Amino acid sequence: MDVWKNPLLVPCFFLCFSFQTNLSLGGDTISGNQTLSGNRTIVSAGGNFVLGFFKPGNSSRSNHYLGIWYGEKVSVQTEVWVANRNDPISDPSSAELKLLDGNLVLLNESRVIIWSTNLNSTVSNSTIAVMNDTGNFVLRDASNESKILWQSFDHPTHTWLPGGKLGRNKKTHVTQLMTSWKNSEDPAEGLFSLEEDPNGTSQYFILRNRTKSFWTSGPWNGQIFSLEPEMRTTYAYNFSYVSNDDESYFTYSVYDPTIFSRFIMDTSGQIKQLTWLPNSKEWNLFWSQPRQQCEVYALCGAFGVCSENSLPFCNCLYGFEVKSQSEWELNDYSSGCKRKTLLRCENNASSNGAEDKFWAFFSAGLPDNSLEMSLESDAACKSACLNNCSCNAYAYSGGNCSIWTEDLLNLRQAADGEGTGSTIYIRLAASELLSKSNGKKTVIGVVVGSVGVILLLGLGFLVIWRRRRSVVSAKAVKGSLMAFLYKDLQIVTKNFSEKLGGGGFGSVFKGTLPDSTVIAVKKLESISQGEKQFRTEVSTIGTIQHVNLVRLRGFCSEGTKKVLVYDYMPNGSLDTHLFHGKEVLGWKTRFQIALGIARGLAYLHEKCRDCIIHCDIKPENILLDADFCPKVADFGLAKLVGRDFSRVLTTMRGTRGYLAPEWISGVAITAKADVYSFGMMLFELISGRRNSKQSEDGKIRFFPTWAASKLDAGEDILSILDSKLERNADVEEVMKICRVACWCIQDDEIHRPTMGQVVQILEGLLEVNAPPIPRSLQVYVDTPEDIIFFTESSTSQSSKVQSNVSTPSQAKSTTSASAKP
Ligand SMILES: *[C@@H]1O[C@H](CO)[C@@H](O)[C@H](O)[C@H]1NC(C)=O
Ligand SMILES: *[C@@H]1O[C@H](CO)[C@@H](O)[C@H](O)[C@H]1NC(C)=O
Ligand SMILES: *[C@@H]1O[C@H](CO)[C@@H](O)[C@H](O)[C@H]1NC(C)=O
Ligand SMILES: *[C@@H]1O[C@H](CO)[C@@H](O)[C@H](O)[C@H]1NC(C)=O
Ligand SMILES: *[C@@H]1O[C@H](CO)[C@@H](O)[C@H](O)[C@H]1NC(C)=O
Ligand SMILES: *[C@@H]1O[C@H](CO)[C@@H](O)[C@H](O)[C@H]1NC(C)=O
Ligand SMILES: *[C@@H]1O[C@H](CO)[C@@H](O)[C@H](O)[C@H]1NC(C)=O
Ligand SMILES: *[C@@H]1O[C@H](CO)[C@@H](O)[C@H](O)[C@H]1NC(C)=O
Ligand SMILES: *[C@@H]1O[C@H](CO)[C@@H](O)[C@H](O)[C@H]1NC(C)=O
Ligand SMILES: *[C@@H]1O[C@H](CO)[C@@H](O)[C@H](O)[C@H]1NC(C)=O
Ligand SMILES: *[C@@H]1O[C@H](CO)[C@@H](O)[C@H](O)[C@H]1NC(C)=O
Ligand SMILES: *[C@@H]1O[C@H](CO)[C@@H](O)[C@H](O)[C@H]1NC(C)=O
Repeated sequence: MDVWKNPLLVPCFFLCFSFQTNLSLGGDTISGNQTLSGNRTIVSAGGNFVLGFFKPGNSSRSNHYLGIWYGEKVSVQTEVWVANRNDPISDPSSAELKLLDGNLVLLNESRVIIWSTNLNSTVSNSTIAVMNDTGNFVLRDASNESKILWQSFDHPTHTWLPGGKLGRNKKTHVTQLMTSWKNSEDPAEGLFSLEEDPNGTSQYFILRNRTKSFWTSGPWNGQIFSLEPEMRTTYAYNFSYVSNDDESYFTYSVYDPTIFSRFIMDTSGQIKQLTWLPNSKEWNLFWSQPRQQCEVYALCGAFGVCSENSLPFCNCLYGFEVKSQSEWELNDYSSGCKRKTLLRCENNASSNGAEDKFWAFFSAGLPDNSLEMSLESDAACKSACLNNCSCNAYAYSGGNCSIWTEDLLNLRQAADGEGTGSTIYIRLAASELLSKSNGKKTVIGVVVGSVGVILLLGLGFLVIWRRRRSVVSAKAVKGSLMAFLYKDLQIVTKNFSEKLGGGGFGSVFKGTLPDSTVIAVKKLESISQGEKQFRTEVSTIGTIQHVNLVRLRGFCSEGTKKVLVYDYMPNGSLDTHLFHGKEVLGWKTRFQIALGIARGLAYLHEKCRDCIIHCDIKPENILLDADFCPKVADFGLAKLVGRDFSRVLTTMRGTRGYLAPEWISGVAITAKADVYSFGMMLFELISGRRNSKQSEDGKIRFFPTWAASKLDAGEDILSILDSKLERNADVEEVMKICRVACWCIQDDEIHRPTMGQVVQILEGLLEVNAPPIPRSLQVYVDTPEDIIFFTESSTSQSSKVQSNVSTPSQAKSTTSASAKP
């Protein structure tokens, strides 16, 4: 830096300038007297990562940090490491990063060292700092590449990159852990961390404030973490846990080095794995834990309530207000809420001596820091709370009285499927509750409530009868799509009482319109779109009509209440018939179902104005009408739900078996991803059992691989058939479907047929040859606890019978889907 200030060296300026320019234009090294400041950066050799000063997010503050982010290949600014996360710099042009006595140091505007590699270095002036293409910033000996003195991978912040370690040095007791940012604009250490069990087991924990654990991976069993089997070695990633006398750590690598993947400890308290989609230029959330936001301990801070059914997830309890609005706006809820009015104990004067009152909070997940006592009545429990000045709440149940004398932490609204929850009584100043008596108020509430409901119901029927015509004519959007009022839907579904099913997007309920038309009503969850966009998407879906697609009849959009109304399908979904049905689906029906689904998908992919990728093909999403004609359901929703779809995906544990490899590797998704899922489903149609079902006896075979090898070896093809069919099937058709299925699940999407080709093959217009066994399936075979299994024994009975019809050799020579001459 002195170079620039010394007037004697000014002639040198232009000489040096080219050198300095080089530094900013792609040099990956800091050595000797070089300094980094202002907007200058160093870039790793392959251009993957950049080191320099940055300002986080949209922050209006002038806080700057020294950090590492992705290079140009990732067009969204994404920081992966921060040096001075707790000590920001306001003016990076007068701060500098340089080598000093063999250490890397960061000086702030007043030339004070605010960050250093802190080594007792012995090779003081022969060290250099190199930005490696893996994202690792390395301080090493200038003359010996493997003499690494310090590396950023040993000091991760909130990101864990491929090649990085999370663990602990058993000798020095130095640990590598991920700690969340405080919020999206402040990289300072936040509340949540992911770290290896400090007690020495191989488990990993997510901790709040480095103490309270609310998620664990379970111990490593040599191949996977027992509670988190998805964090495992696949064909895309190699995860491994290493433990020896010196250290123990967890690390991973990506087989394809062009894929950018990262794990972060998010400010939401969840660990997330994201992969970069180069085509759509965004990060795809691939996996996260804990799955439910409200499982994150005390996310909403003191006196906050977490609810899965509201956005934002956090709200203050009745009678409380947000402590720091600015922090809440950045989704940092940790500061929690405060009382609007002090309790009498704290402020006798303004309460006029009025006794504090209680506000009932129903179906709650209770905070865990309570004091327990045995008392005979609710009233006794209540007065135990009133008599203790620090008591904030009580709950009473069957002789057991719980009181809370500390801040209420981790209060949750019980989620839909979580049972009824408990009732907790929150202590509030009398003035917060208007009525004189709680008891009376409740009674009045119930009476008024039920009268209201009856009135509303009456009104509602009037409205719906009168609306019937106007709905169809005046409110029709495009085609004959109807706009429903939410309260009408409540009435026709008897307040959403008859549930038909659930899924990634929301639950489905049965309803009957006044003209006796039976409908299926889907309440959508987590729709992130605005009103206008929602209507546009819905009217697009409404225009799509095909005999093999479930018809959208109408919708409702009132604020966060988003509902879609479909034709009702009396025979339910394919999975119930395949896996649980009493009556066996005959082979002819199965073949027609396969063909119908293929036609529906081909229409979605090729005939609509915009190609629609379904993204979630599985037997649950295939509905059957009265004649067992298949109808694909839930199409277009991936787009409707938008970005959040990836969140939906990650919560669908079971469906992973249908996911194409490109979902996992993170490259852009095309219609061929549906082809893959369709192929997986065909195997289930053939075998009548889930690919993913594990059997009781030890012998495990992956059905598609096994079926493919039978096909390959020219063995009795009927032996792979659902045993319930008792070999009653057309051999040619079984062969055809097997081959199509196997082509559909090829690793490389280029090798998979289009849905249009599949239709032609099934219709007999295209010939199909014997497929190769997909490579990724061969990997699955060796990993017994994997997602997809099949047992040989279940079909061994029939496989002993040799078939006399097998023709693979003659078909082998033709190409995958060549037209019949
Ligand atoms: C470092 O700076 C000193 C004087 O400030 C100079 O003598 C020396 O040549 C410089 N070294 C390099 C490698 O630029
Ligand atoms: C870097 O900073 C200098 C001076 O502060 C400014 O003139 C230049 O435009 C900046 N370059 C970029 C790429 O922002
Ligand atoms: C910054 O602001 C833009 C526009 O308001 C928004 O789309 C983007 O998500 C914000 N980025 C962050 C990191 O908050
Ligand atoms: C530089 O850091 C020191 C020590 O943290 C601090 O006292 C000083 O105020 C900082 N200077 C500026 C300009 O921020
Ligand atoms: C550096 O040296 C000091 C004093 O000699 C010692 O206390 C400290 O532990 C050393 N630090 C490291 C990282 O070795
Ligand atoms: C190394 O540093 C010492 C003093 O710190 C200096 O005398 C010597 O010239 C330096 N060597 C090189 C190669 O820069
Ligand atoms: C530097 O990157 C190369 C690949 O680009 C990798 O093989 C090597 O291990 C990395 N070195 C360090 C110290 O991270
Ligand atoms: C480089 O450093 C490594 C590790 O410290 C050492 O084993 C190796 O002998 C060194 N190589 C040379 C050429 O000095
Ligand atoms: C570690 O062990 C101690 C004592 O057994 C226990 O209190 C503590 O909760 C354990 N820590 C974790 C993170 O399990
Ligand atoms: C975190 O723990 C520290 C003590 O270790 C405590 O002072 C602080 O208040 C805690 N923060 C929160 C948000 O609980
Ligand atoms: C996975 O990583 C481990 C440790 O890094 C390595 O030993 C192993 O060979 C890798 N496995 C594969 C299949 O590449
Ligand atoms: C609280 O105030 C009431 C009337 O304002 C008074 O009668 C009572 O003694 C006060 N109690 C305490 C503990 O100060």
